[in-house]
Amino acid sequence: MKEFKIAVIAGDGIGVDITEQALKVMEKISAKYDTKLHFTKVLAGGCAIDEFGTPLPVETLEECKKSDAVLLGAVGGPKWDVLPGEGRPEKALLGLRGGLGLYANLRPAQVYDVLKAASPLKDAIINEGVDLLVVRELTGGIYFGERGRDEDGSSAYDTERYSVHEIKRIAHVAFKAAMLRKKKVTSVDKANILESSRLWREVVEGVAKEYPQVELSHLYVDNTAMQLVRKPSQFDVILTSNMFGDILSDEASMITGSIGMLASASVREDSFGMYEPIHGSAPDIAGKDLANPLAQILSSAMLFEYSLNMPQAARDIESAVEAVLNKGYRTGDIFTEGMKRVGTKEMGELVLAQI
Ligand code: IPM
Ligand code: MG
Repeated sequence: MKEFKIAVIAGDGIGVDITEQALKVMEKISAKYDTKLHFTKVLAGGCAIDEFGTPLPVETLEECKKSDAVLLGAVGGPKWDVLPGEGRPEKALLGLRGGLGLYANLRPAQVYDVLKAASPLKDAIINEGVDLLVVRELTGGIYFGERGRDEDGSSAYDTERYSVHEIKRIAHVAFKAAMLRKKKVTSVDKANILESSRLWREVVEGVAKEYPQVELSHLYVDNTAMQLVRKPSQFDVILTSNMFGDILSDEASMITGSIGMLASASVREDSFGMYEPIHGSAPDIAGKDLANPLAQILSSAMLFEYSLNMPQAARDIESAVEAVLNKGYRTGDIFTEGMKRVGTKEMGELVLAQI
């Protein structure tokens, strides 16, 4: 029997509700494949601030390092919004990404046929389909650059800095992913203004030579934001920096109409990774059995695929989710006229029953 250690960070808000459902699914699927998962629950985010006075306790990071993968719910909430920068729950995310060396963030955005009605785009646009992958650099750029305030407090700054090494390794991730998809990479930057973007372009051009079958194009970030709503079907892999990727991945997920459905993976060279839904902690609906657990359940599918090398388990989870959707079950976020409205727990149970 194979055994794996999984660190579980449910976090704050609906992170707790959805993670509970995902763990049940993971247990069931691992049993099916004669695999034992050892879950260790650890704290990060607002709940860790309340308990330990810091968003990312050392013990949490250490436990993650000892594990094969991390499943994360969501962090943050209005209760902790009053705290200054370093003390905020979001700091836990940056600490985990940086501390675990997870430089590649994979954010697939696809539209589920049965959920097309939930997309805010016109039918003519959404019917052409959306199936793209945002490959976001996650441990560099302005998120990790030097920042501060000038002594007299009259100004503040944050620095965007990228090394050749950082650009190269994320570019390789994007090209490799494209090879398994539609073989198209759109590298997004602001090279008409930023020097770091000009370096980004040069390096990406260089890496592209190693993938002659992949078609590379460059697009400015403002144009990309516009193209995503104009004709999302033109994209396959979007390769971009930390900050641009943050913004564009929210946009990409929203146009699918399924933000409560989208999973993400943060990975590095080896099989270790951290998996989480794209959506946030939604404190307004936390603990009310209203959240959609499907993004977290699908994140666990990515975990099986990338970190545990169990792609068949991943496919089983994905098929179970699709089957439940096809039967018309919907949580509030993806509910449309004529469908069957269910809560967090019932949605989890329905997926479980499919497996
Ligand atoms: C995300 C989030 C985080 C980010 C925040 C919560 C720090 O928006 O994962 O996209 O900006 O990276
Ligand atoms: Mg974001």
